Amino acid sequence: MEKDMINQLIDTAISQLKYSYTPYSNFKVGAALLGKNGRIYAGCNIENAGYTATNCAERTAFFKAVSEGVREFQAICVVGGKEGILTEYTAPCGVCRQVMMEFCDPDTFQIILAVDKEHYQVYTLKELLPLGFGPSNLD
Ligand code: THU
Repeated sequence: MEKDMINQLIDTAISQLKYSYTPYSNFKVGAALLGKNGRIYAGCNIENAGYTATNCAERTAFFKAVSEGVREFQAICVVGGKEGILTEYTAPCGVCRQVMMEFCDPDTFQIILAVDKEHYQVYTLKELLPLGFGPSNLD
């Protein structure tokens, strides 16, 4: 992926931190999901007093896109930190990896973990979810 696009995804993910709703953990996460259509779907984490109803930033982005008819994706960028201060890489939780497995090719879908535009790591979904169970298992 071109550096310009990586920069755009990192900027978009960081700009989502201000919308993150985290009265319980104060751990703010932003995500920017790139569709194969070239559009970017942004998401933040949205917590809930019933804790388990919390939605991660990654799933917010996926569900926004899927709810608009978009089901093919190239990459997602994730940023996160306590109080929205970015010092370490934030990797997607297991539930979010499983949602990615539903819509993304594990060999090619890129997961970009970023702290800023100079500090980021890129993984494939297969690297973060080896032996994943997905739609093809039900063929
Ligand atoms: N969280 C995300 O939004 N994405 C991740 O990749 C890890 C965790 C959120 C959920 C919860 O609001 C907070 O971070 C602390 O777990």
